[in-house]
Amino acid sequence: MLITLEGIEGSGKTTQIDYIAAYLQKSGLDYAITKEPGGTVLGEKIRSILLDPVNINIHPMTELLLYAADRVQHIKELISPMIESGKIVICDRFHDSTTVYQGFTRGIDISLIQQLNSLVLEGLAPDITFVLDLDPEIGLKRAWKQISDGSRSESETRFENEKLQFHESVRNGYLELARKEPDRFVVVDASNDPAKVWDQISAHLGKCLEKQK
Ligand code: TMP
Repeated sequence: MLITLEGIEGSGKTTQIDYIAAYLQKSGLDYAITKEPGGTVLGEKIRSILLDPVNINIHPMTELLLYAADRVQHIKELISPMIESGKIVICDRFHDSTTVYQGFTRGIDISLIQQLNSLVLEGLAPDITFVLDLDPEIGLKRAWKQISDGSRSESETRFENEKLQFHESVRNGYLELARKEPDRFVVVDASNDPAKVWDQISAHLGKCLEKQK
């Protein structure tokens, strides 16, 4: 089973992944947590290129292919073997990030992104995707606070440096994807405090786990 979390910068994915992990642990289920970009040793190197604010001149197509390269390695080396061994895999961002950031927001042709996604995923698809929906002004404030207090790295701020309009497009992109695939996506209001966000997620997660039994 594959669970993915998506959302704008500062939407609180990491905190919710901690809640999910605690819940699965308590339920005695075997799980693994991973992320994109950077789920593998090779991916960490790709991540540092992609998120370094110094790299302001990365071409959108280069950016797209680096995310795709990270994902191929991640799926082959980690995600597919873990799923095959029966683990529940929780992934912080996955292919929907590519559709939304490189497609809707950077403006690369969506049909090209879809072709690339299907080439990379080879039929793999998340069973459930939580979109943590939030006003980008609030998300960015949270993200920059984490950067200034040191809980997020300053060397990974290339996207945080984008204009508010960029983040609004990302938010709208996720909402559009969720409207198109209501059976897979669950949009949660991430402006609430973390425990309330978790209440929304746990209700859906419980149902999804029941279905998989
Ligand atoms: P994060 O690990 O803090 O969420 O940062 C990852 C950044 O990379 C985030 O700004 C979204 C961006 N991203 C893409 O643009 N495309 C992708 O395919 C993925 C996985 C992430």
